[in-house]
Amino acid sequence: MATLAPLPGYLHDYGMYTNPARAALVAHIKECKDDIELLDLGMHLSRLRMIKQPAEIALIQKAIDISIASIKNALSAAKLKRYAYEYEIEAEITKGFRKRGAEGHAFEPIVASGARAVVLHNIANNGQLSSDDLLVVDVGAQYGHYAADITRTVSLKQPSRRQQAVYDAVLEVQRFALAQLRPGVLLKDYEQDVEKFMGEKLRELGLIKTIDHESVRAFFPHATSHYLGLNVHDVGDYNRPLEPGVVITVEPGIYIPAEGIGIRIEDDILITANGHKILTNKLPRELA
Ligand code: GLY
Ligand code: MN
Repeated sequence: MATLAPLPGYLHDYGMYTNPARAALVAHIKECKDDIELLDLGMHLSRLRMIKQPAEIALIQKAIDISIASIKNALSAAKLKRYAYEYEIEAEITKGFRKRGAEGHAFEPIVASGARAVVLHNIANNGQLSSDDLLVVDVGAQYGHYAADITRTVSLKQPSRRQQAVYDAVLEVQRFALAQLRPGVLLKDYEQDVEKFMGEKLRELGLIKTIDHESVRAFFPHATSHYLGLNVHDVGDYNRPLEPGVVITVEPGIYIPAEGIGIRIEDDILITANGHKILTNKLPRELA
């Protein structure tokens, strides 16, 4: 007999209790027949969900297209001059998503400027905007239950040389990461290669002296990629080589609390038979 294994009653990492329905079902089955062998289908389903069918890719692309149009509109030069608070940008993006037929946000939107952008999941979005700061916008529409997940970092005026240099480093790391993506690649190996390249950039920026895991992760404390699909952090097996039909994000970032600089650039990628396709390519990646 195959089921989805019950979740633990309480998830410490998320601080939440889980739905007890699965545990109750398994207990009931065991009551009816206590020698029954139960197989866990969880990883099988995750692996099936990793490979997106054409109809799923079309829904992800639609979620992405809605997101791109809404981000472009909300971050136009004329509009950027008029906002005073981060939540005004969030509101404009929410309006754009709904106007274009999305169900809403696929996850809590992040609109964080200056030092607030150094906090990874800053969803307060209530800070006052200053033209000296960079602005990180990490949002994605949900369409037909599928998610987009895009981050752009923009400057509200001509960026400082330092801001531009850090931005250029993130962009170079993203280009390096993208160049690795093709069928057969193991995300674990890729993550290590990206970490090493990021280390070189951090050293050039004068942020670290030696390239090792701890030094690099002090300024880049999250993974480069995650699966994307029905969930923004979709299920999938991180020990399995990439295959055509897999959709992942590529989102390097550099966060420097002492300088009040947080920068991330995130695009959504489909693995194809020959390499990859960037589904978010219609959204420019320019700081100013
Ligand atoms: N865009 C939110 C995240 O990847 O965590
Ligand atoms: Mn993401």
